[in-house]
Amino acid sequence: MKLLKDKVMAEGIVLGENVLKVDSFLNHQMDPVLMREVGSEFARRFAGEGITKVLTIESSGIAPAIMTSLELGVPMIFARKHKSLTLKDDILVEKVYSFTKRESNEITVSRKFLHPEDRVLIIDDFLANGEAAFGLARIVEQVGASVVGVGIVIEKSFQPGARLLEEAGYRVESLVRIASLENGTVAFVEDVHE
Ligand code: G4P
Ligand code: NA
Ligand code: NA
Repeated sequence: MKLLKDKVMAEGIVLGENVLKVDSFLNHQMDPVLMREVGSEFARRFAGEGITKVLTIESSGIAPAIMTSLELGVPMIFARKHKSLTLKDDILVEKVYSFTKRESNEITVSRKFLHPEDRVLIIDDFLANGEAAFGLARIVEQVGASVVGVGIVIEKSFQPGARLLEEAGYRVESLVRIASLENGTVAFVEDVHE
């Protein structure tokens, strides 16, 4: 997605060899026009899949997910990382380990928003090791619903998440794919291999 690539080139800051800081449009300040385009692109790629829900995880997944769900005309659900005071319902819980943060978190979704007949599109801002996406997929599968695919704004293709998700049978659509962040430079997959 050219608009997103241009934004990454113009505003992304490489931290070390592994982390791309994009707090001017995705992780802190958010660019609503760009998010609308991101939502349209996911909706276009997953059109005809009969999606009934979009599922993400707080906080940075919420913006791309809500724009996608608006475009698809279905509700969006975000998994919570901290138990909500008012979440007294029957909840679905999964453990998600973060290699980046070296900690495990429990993510939760109220059972009342997911049903066996749901066809769910998982959306997230970054894909690194895939732990968050796998945790969301396990939540969907706990209720017997279907994961239609995984839509990612920025995939770090040099980390194993995309490959592991595809090997597990999930369709992964990433709007930009980063081959490397070596030497303080963003190299996109298409520029390296395609
Ligand atoms: P994984 O789910 O793919 O295994 O990723 P990981 O545990 O490494 O991710 C932990 C957090 O770090 C996630 O955000 C993820 O989006 C973010 N992250 C991973 N790699 C990058 C990167 O290169 N750049 C940026 N900016 N973020 C990255 P989170 O803690 O859930 O935060 P948020 O959603 O509240 O923003
Ligand atoms: Na994030
Ligand atoms: Na996220």
